[in-house]
Order: sequence, then structure tokens, then C-alpha cells
Amino acid sequence: MKVLVAGGGGREHAICWKLAQSPKVTELYCAPGNGGIAQVAKCVPITATDVDAMTAWAKENAVDFVMVAPDDPLALGMVDAMEAAGIRAFGPRKNAAVIEASKAFSKELMKKYHIPTARYETFTELSAAVSYIQAQGAPIVVKADGLALGKGVVVAQTVEEAVEAAREMMEDKKFGESGSKVVIEECMTGPEVTVLAFADGEHLAPMTSSQDHKRAYDGNQGPNTGGMGAISPSPNYTPEIADRCVREIFEPTMAALKAEGRPFKGVIYFGLMLTPDGPKVVEYNARFGDPECQVVLSLLDTDLLDILEACVDGTLDKLEIHWKEQAACCLVLASGGYPLSYKKGYPISGLEEAGRTAVVFHAGTAEQDGQIVTAGGRVLGVTALGGTLDEAIDNAYAAAKPISFTGMHFRTDIGRTTFF
Ligand code: AMP
Ligand code: GLY
Repeated sequence: MKVLVAGGGGREHAICWKLAQSPKVTELYCAPGNGGIAQVAKCVPITATDVDAMTAWAKENAVDFVMVAPDDPLALGMVDAMEAAGIRAFGPRKNAAVIEASKAFSKELMKKYHIPTARYETFTELSAAVSYIQAQGAPIVVKADGLALGKGVVVAQTVEEAVEAAREMMEDKKFGESGSKVVIEECMTGPEVTVLAFADGEHLAPMTSSQDHKRAYDGNQGPNTGGMGAISPSPNYTPEIADRCVREIFEPTMAALKAEGRPFKGVIYFGLMLTPDGPKVVEYNARFGDPECQVVLSLLDTDLLDILEACVDGTLDKLEIHWKEQAACCLVLASGGYPLSYKKGYPISGLEEAGRTAVVFHAGTAEQDGQIVTAGGRVLGVTALGGTLDEAIDNAYAAAKPISFTGMHFRTDIGRTTFF
């Protein structure tokens, strides 16, 4: 089969790496791809958000199957466009991708169907938002409604900080139109867990659990990032909690989306907080998390294309999915300055040596005159397995040792903080 993956980060590298292992995949393309993806797929220079160009290219090149990996093209309706062009495509349609594209939508859905989440209110007027913050007190959480690269959330410790965050989003338009509506919610406490699940519109198959590390610096300090590392499975996600999540959150969410006429096919991302009152939803995403994808797919022991096809065909319940009885750790090596401003174009050394004991997924790299150079904020995701979580973490750090580039920074405590 001729397969096209839309996207070009570490997540897409992991997806292409896994798909390339499928005997059914005869030709693999990735648009736009990156310097590492080019080692397992042919890269096509189309930006992931260019729905028209992507669809036209897939049609002209007789692509059999498209996997849309990032949030933006899903929110723009790339799956709908592929389907309209007669191409089988994996991912939620636009009307289901809205669970990520609008926090206000997903919060209303949870309220309507009694799915546990933080109490909240939605505002379009700054003055009303400020009065609400003052009445509720701190700590309190302020979120831009739309997509903001994982950076549109402020967990404010004081009323002043929360008011300032709301003002920046609503008045200064820090996140553009994403912030013209804000959700203000109760601050929850407890460890965070990500559970990704394959979904076919009706059924859902949770993957092995994982845990992201969103803050830029050690000890969960500094600004939020797209994710500085991940581990799988999460030590906090016990079988009892998993049962509870399936019953109280996962299945009710699938049923709610179906009841609303928005059946979800694709990967649904449950960002959970294990609070003293039980597991609650922090956020939904409509796609694989990044870097969670790197650890989870490293542990997958079933042909990924078989699973993606079952999701599209609505036959997920007939498929057995196997996971390695191991643990995985992905350590992100980032550009100096990320998530704020950073420079690109620095040569990267040590990749070959690191690749002997780990899989080095490329997040933001490019090839320049035969040399791999930095081309993004998150540059690489060094991903290693181990018999235990401790072993996987040690293996990832050991594998990353030989890698260097100007300004490289990473967290030294991935998987080691007791409270994530
Ligand atoms: P989100 O983009 O909604 O996942 O939020 C980013 C991060 O902000 C989450 O991973 C949490 O660490 C934190 N966060 C979001 N909402 C809440 C909340 N209601 N209470 C506490 N922390 C939160
Ligand atoms: N790692 C968090 C996300 O992909 O949204």
C-alpha cells in the first residue's frame, strides 16, 4: 500500500518508523517530514496545514491511505477533504476534531454527559472574566479557547497573575483569535497521566499509559512547552484507576461524541489528572501526543497499519493489540531558548552513536549539504526501552550522551520527579 503521513515532527517520525516496519506498506511518504523522517520515508515539500495541496498530491499520486497526525490539519478538515476525494484517511473529521480545537466545546460536552473534569466558566468579555477570577480566588487556571501549541494555559497562583493572563489573551491577543474566548477553571491537583486510545467511531482501544513533562526545566519549573520528555507506562496508572477511567471517562466520551453526531475515528488523547476525588479530564486532544507517541509506539507490538485500517473501517473490536512488557523513556533535546526564541541551523553530532542503543526520533531537524542540522525548538527525542522504567530512563540518558549541538538543553529528571 502507498501510505502518506501528514506532519513533520517527532511524533510523525515515530509513526513513519513504525509504519515502515509493516510488510503491507510498499511506499511511504511524509509531508513535509524532516531530516530524520527522510531516512524511513520519502519527504514531500507540502506544509501539513495545506489541505488542498495535500489532497491534490495524494490524489495525483494514487495514495491508498493517509494518516493525518497533527492537530491543525485535523481541525481544518483534512480527513474530510481526503474522504471527499475518495482517499481512505485516518484521523477524526473536523466535527470530531473540535474536542481539541475548542476547549469550550469539550468542557460543555463533559458537563452535559457528566464526565469528570474541573469546574469552569467560559468568557468572551474581559470584565466578566476578571469578576469571576476575583470571586473564585487563586490558584485558578486560565485557558485560551483555541489551539495555542500547548502554551495557551496559565495555572495562576495569584488573582493578579490570573487577571493578567486573561488580559493578555483577550485584550493583547497573545494567542491571536484563539484567546478571544477563554475558559477559566478550578485548579486540580494530582499526578498527570496521558492515555491515548485508538478509536473507530464506536469502539475504543486504550494504549499503554504515558506521562509527558510539559515544563521546560527540571523540577517542573519554567514555562510550559510542547513536552520535554515522556515515559510509558505511567507508574501512577494502576489497573484499578485504568478500570475507573474506562468506565467513567473513555467510554462515556466515545458515546457522547457519537450521540452528538460527531463519531470519533482516530487517536483520542485523554489528558488526565488523578485527583483526590478520582481521575478527571484535563484536556482532550484529537491525535497522538508528542512526545507520548514516541514512547507508546516504541512499545507497540502489532502492525500499526492494521490498527489504523481497523479504525477507519470500524472493526477495531475484532483486532487484538499487543504491547511489549517493557518500559520506555523519551528524552527531548531542545534548542537553547525554547520554548521562547531560539536559533536554528546548528549541526548535530553524535547521532549515529546514539542510534546504536536507542531510537533517535527527529522533531525539528533538516538536512543541509549531507549534514543534519537543528530546525526547530524540540530537536530530537532519544527513545530507549528497558525491562523496568528505571532501566529505560538510564538507557535514554546514556544513549543521548554523545549527541551535541550549540545551545542544546534538556531536562535531567525525565521520569524521576515524583509529582509530574
Ligand atoms: P492543557 O493544555 O489543557 O493540557 O494544560 C496544560 C497543563 O496545564 C496541563 O498539563 C496541566 O499541567 C495544567 N492544567 C491545565 N488545566 C488544569 C487544571 N484545571 N488544574 C491544574 N492544572 C491544570
Ligand atoms: N505532549 C502534549 C501534546 O502533544 O499535546
